[in-house]
Amino acid sequence: MPLLAIETTCDETAAAVIDRSRTVLSSVVASQEAIHARWRGVVPEVASRAHVERIIPVIEEAIRRSGLEIRAIEAVAVAVTPGLVGSLLVGLSAAKAIAAARSIPIVGYDHIAAHLYACRVAHRDRMRYPCVGLVASGGHTSLFHVRGPIDLVRLGGTIDDAAGEAFDKASSLLGLGYPGGPAIERAAIGGDPRAFRLPRPLSADTDTLDMSFSGLKTALRYLVRPPHAAEGPPPSGQRLADLAASFEQAAVDTILAKVRLAVERTGCDLIAIGGGVAANARLRAAVEALGAELGLEVLVPPLSLCTDNAAMGAIAWERLERGEDDGLSLDVRAGTDRKQRP
Ligand code: KG4
Ligand code: ZN
Repeated sequence: MPLLAIETTCDETAAAVIDRSRTVLSSVVASQEAIHARWRGVVPEVASRAHVERIIPVIEEAIRRSGLEIRAIEAVAVAVTPGLVGSLLVGLSAAKAIAAARSIPIVGYDHIAAHLYACRVAHRDRMRYPCVGLVASGGHTSLFHVRGPIDLVRLGGTIDDAAGEAFDKASSLLGLGYPGGPAIERAAIGGDPRAFRLPRPLSADTDTLDMSFSGLKTALRYLVRPPHAAEGPPPSGQRLADLAASFEQAAVDTILAKVRLAVERTGCDLIAIGGGVAANARLRAAVEALGAELGLEVLVPPLSLCTDNAAMGAIAWERLERGEDDGLSLDVRAGTDRKQRP
């Protein structure tokens, strides 16, 4: 009997049906990208309202596509942290309503741990523990010593902007669209990643696994428009491609330096990556190349499992199989305490 997973942490309304073997029977994602594009970022109140409109149709569609009926659902899983509180509450309310109406268990899961579990969903037994896990998304960029599916020790991560947030802001500076990652990736085609010198803060500091992206964004801003210069048209043509490629390369180098250090420190022989930024071809290629250089295995989810989705809610099976049930007092938590395990 399968579980129904629900995901509303940010701006995707998603539901999936997953059986005990972690086989995804259906996965539906309703993106709000078009709604938030005009603000070049997610507007929390707008996101909550859009979730309210979409949550029931998305759940119904996930159940319909699974070929099952709601009666067949054995448990409900819902992402409860981290995320926008208003958005999280929409998913939690829907999950509780189903759990209460059908008297089935409800289990909350951590969205960040789930991003890494996407590797388990996609690659099954090739996902092994312990490993080094990198989650790079719009709200978070963290490195973990992953001791088990729900046993993650945070080793470091961004001290300011998340990597995806940096892509989104850089995209806006370059006059490109939202979300920024795919827009920059497209604009960088044919660009020279060494055309502009951009900073890679903390990369050479082997004492820390922390990273920083805000200086990179500021440096790009001054390249696009030097201080005190009059506002001109956004960059275009080869200059745009070179700026986009140089930014992308600097972001990838910043991340990669710390992935390398995390591997050295932990001695792990597997690197797993997840989150929206893991959809980036330059980052994927760089991590694969690092794996080849060091003789390590690298697991990367397919693109559809990198950006937000509910199929990664398969992680809830890890607790359901132990008989755990959070019950109807389950609540949401906006942030992940960096010192705590998710
Ligand atoms: O994991 P995700 O879908 O949502 C959050 O949990 O935040 O990540 C969204 C982020 C956005 O900032 C988006 O710009 C970035 O992932 N992203 C990418 C790419 N696709 C999405 N960044 C770089 N390259 C991409 N191809
Ligand atoms: Zn995410």
